[in-house]
Amino acid sequence: MPDRTEGTNLASISTLISAEQIAQKLAEMGAAISADYRDRTPILVGVLKGAFIVMADLARHLDIAVEFDFMAVSSYGAATKSSGVVRILKDLDQEIAGRDVLIVEDIVDSGLTLNYLLKSLAVRKPASLEVAALLIKEGVERAPVEIRYPGFIIGPEFVIGYGLDYAEKYRNLPYVGVLHP
Ligand code: IMP
Ligand code: MG
Repeated sequence: MPDRTEGTNLASISTLISAEQIAQKLAEMGAAISADYRDRTPILVGVLKGAFIVMADLARHLDIAVEFDFMAVSSYGAATKSSGVVRILKDLDQEIAGRDVLIVEDIVDSGLTLNYLLKSLAVRKPASLEVAALLIKEGVERAPVEIRYPGFIIGPEFVIGYGLDYAEKYRNLPYVGVLHP
């Protein structure tokens, strides 16, 4: 396997969720989504940049017709704690009125980002609006958001890999890890 952490200290990353565990979970989530959206054509909305890997891998476990769109939001900058400020950097390309919309997130921490996204998409009157998230942090003060398709519940530690970054790096790790400073 290529060394995706070249130039970084490998010993400072420990595996929290392996590539195999992620693949298994995405297969389960994909089966549930395929069953629920049978005979409909949902728009999967990936939240960039973090969700791009989850989106790509989850999508390949769906055996229904789907369309893809992306939004880019910024909530953290380069810090590891939520500022509570959400900025839309890129909006959807298409209208969602009357459509089934499934937001795909890498991780829900404070829920502030998701809460904001749900509100701003709900006013566009989609037929349905649900959320799939690979990781959900427990034990954090969270905005009230319902996650229809949850992946793994994890602790409050800051994680990297599988799309998740620290200062824009580590997104390409094939597993979810914890960065030890
Ligand atoms: P929230 O608004 O606090 O729920 O956080 C939303 C965004 O913050 C996520 O979509 C991630 O981009 C980022 N984030 C939250 N926790 C982590 C983490 O542990 N590692 C990397 N990014 C994170
Ligand atoms: Mg994100």
